[in-house]
Amino acid sequence: MISKAIILAGGKGTRIGPGSLSISKHLIQVYDKPMIFYIISFLIKIGIRNLIIVVNPGDEKSYLKLLGNGKSFGIKIKYVKQKKPNGIPEAFKICSKYIYNKNVLLILGDNFLYPKNNNELNILKRKIKNFKNGSTIFTFKVKDISSYGAIKEKNKKIIIKEKPNNSFSKNAIIGLYLFDKNVAKYFKKLKKSNRGEYEIIDLIDIYLTKKLLDIYKINKQSFTWMDLGSITSIIKAQKIVSKNYQNLKDTNGYLEYIALENKLIEKKMVLKGLKKYGKNEYSNKILKLINLKKK
Ligand code: DAU
Repeated sequence: MISKAIILAGGKGTRIGPGSLSISKHLIQVYDKPMIFYIISFLIKIGIRNLIIVVNPGDEKSYLKLLGNGKSFGIKIKYVKQKKPNGIPEAFKICSKYIYNKNVLLILGDNFLYPKNNNELNILKRKIKNFKNGSTIFTFKVKDISSYGAIKEKNKKIIIKEKPNNSFSKNAIIGLYLFDKNVAKYFKKLKKSNRGEYEIIDLIDIYLTKKLLDIYKINKQSFTWMDLGSITSIIKAQKIVSKNYQNLKDTNGYLEYIALENKLIEKKMVLKGLKKYGKNEYSNKILKLINLKKK
């Protein structure tokens, strides 16, 4: 069972452009809502209610302004500052006192996880509920693997590699990971890579070597996954969301509505939240979703 998630929302975000100097990449809007809304609503959908958001020291204020301590969405949010982007697994060191030696989910804040229906969502939900020990990683077929962690099977042996040549494999390891309570202990075994960061792939490799790694291939028919680390991918994601805007079956990222649907908050809290945002596409869609629920 996993009840807590760490969202990594630090890092430099330099690939996005000059704007990332003054705004955290994860607060940039993807069509009608900030990038981080998609992640949080995804986590609520799969049963997580307790979040730790890792932020750059200067960004905490903006996150607090947008999300507060999570109360308005019926969840709990704690913020942990990462002094320098020393690598993804450092999260387990700086968050260790909040994980209390428990199993934990890690999600990269720039990953766009967009379920098309409930099929894969239900499987993920079960994986989290039934998780006991080891690590579970999720893979997704991509055309160009060279910007991702990758996995392949050769002679019945699993090999994983960070940002390999394109011929290595087509299966990317997405930024969603389940780890058991030993993860902070294993972090201590890691050394920084040539690019000066602790690498998530090295942490996964420890579990692989111990034969404690579970690999789940996400079905593309029922799920969209993207890494929103570049302008091109953000534009692609914007298009998907705007195309689905009129579709009232698509609730991805509509945080207050998802909180209501999961009985975490009441309707009056939703309306209070929307009032704060004012009139816009985001608020309009939530009002439409609520009206639909009434019918
Ligand atoms: O998106 C999936 C890929 O994410 C995986 O396939 C790779 O194995 C994994 O290393 C990662 O690759 P990226 O090159 O995309 O990682 P990036 O440096 O962009 O960081 C991912 C997110 O984590 C981003 O939202 C910023 C945040 N981050 C990153 C670092 C290095 C932090 O909060 N702190 C950090 O120290």
